[in-house]
Amino acid sequence: SDPGLVERARAAKAALGDRVFVLGHHYQRDEVIEFADVTGDSFKLAQQAAARPDAEFIVFCGVHFMAESADILTTPDQQVVLPDLAAGCSMADMAVLGQVEDCWDALVELGIAGTTVPVTYMNSSADIKGFVGRNGGVVCTSSNAKRALDWAFERGEKVLFLPDQHLGRNTAVLEMGLTLDDCVLYDPHKKNGGLTAEQLTNAKMILWRGHCSVHGRFTLENVQEVRRQRPDVNVLVHPECRHEVVQAADYVGSTEYIIRALDAAEPGSSWAIGTELNLVRRLANAHPDKEVMFLEKTVCYCSTMNRIDLPHLVWSLEELVAGRVPNQITVDADTSRHARTALDRMLALP
Ligand code: 13P
Ligand code: SF4
Repeated sequence: SDPGLVERARAAKAALGDRVFVLGHHYQRDEVIEFADVTGDSFKLAQQAAARPDAEFIVFCGVHFMAESADILTTPDQQVVLPDLAAGCSMADMAVLGQVEDCWDALVELGIAGTTVPVTYMNSSADIKGFVGRNGGVVCTSSNAKRALDWAFERGEKVLFLPDQHLGRNTAVLEMGLTLDDCVLYDPHKKNGGLTAEQLTNAKMILWRGHCSVHGRFTLENVQEVRRQRPDVNVLVHPECRHEVVQAADYVGSTEYIIRALDAAEPGSSWAIGTELNLVRRLANAHPDKEVMFLEKTVCYCSTMNRIDLPHLVWSLEELVAGRVPNQITVDADTSRHARTALDRMLALP
């Protein structure tokens, strides 16, 4: 990266000192990760956002829903900055509050809302988290989805899982003993999700029709191909991958889990990894004694994560030095209160 920009980032961070706390998700570019005070998966970053109540500014190098969650979990005096406002998440955009309310109304009409617990993946907007908090539900991330579903099934007979069908299905079927027949797919663009009253009533898991466009690109053929080429390969994927990919993999887990698995791996071992490319490249560089491959042939970055680059980070930090707060992310008080309830339930999971 540009040495001038590196110098400017260092100088701005030094000028701000403890007033700023920079968080970086594992999918961020190397040039950005270099300036993160802490890196993590979505769960760790949610915990860390609340860990420095003395820092005036939280610069969130990640995507919009993460910055919103940080705003919800920090004190009212702290200001959260997202270096590029275009850093959204296509999966989070697949669940819009009005659609979720329509779905809930359909469950009320059928008399099954009272026994349904809504669970939303962290990758959702603050107003979806608020809806879930208001209706007795919980947030989860890829590192605690099973515990969140256990929590939900202790409180209800069925779960409405938002917005990632794959995380919901993979956790329910591969970790909790539910069957594929226990799950139905609710399409927000169709009346009653495109489902009959009987299907909705009989389902244990109502899965929202959302997915991650990055992880959706990995296929069962990718897994089979890499096993043909390297019979001793360990296939390690993120739970946002399709069901058949996760089923065929050897290990599945969050970004933080993937990093720890590589740290613990034997020298000389071979790994094919199904997650975002910035992270896989960083792992390959960090483990020259192991063979680390990307599960797919084509380049597969998360384009919105990649919006945050060194020029945007430098601009944000220099604005803060100049006494201005750029790209501040704020969630309104009412939404924030209910979303906080759902996030606190997650943070309190055993
Ligand atoms: P985790 O870092 O929690 O595994 O999440 C992956 C992801 O897609 C974030 O957008
Ligand atoms: Fe969203 Fe997928 Fe990108 Fe994560 S990797 S931010 S889920 S689009």
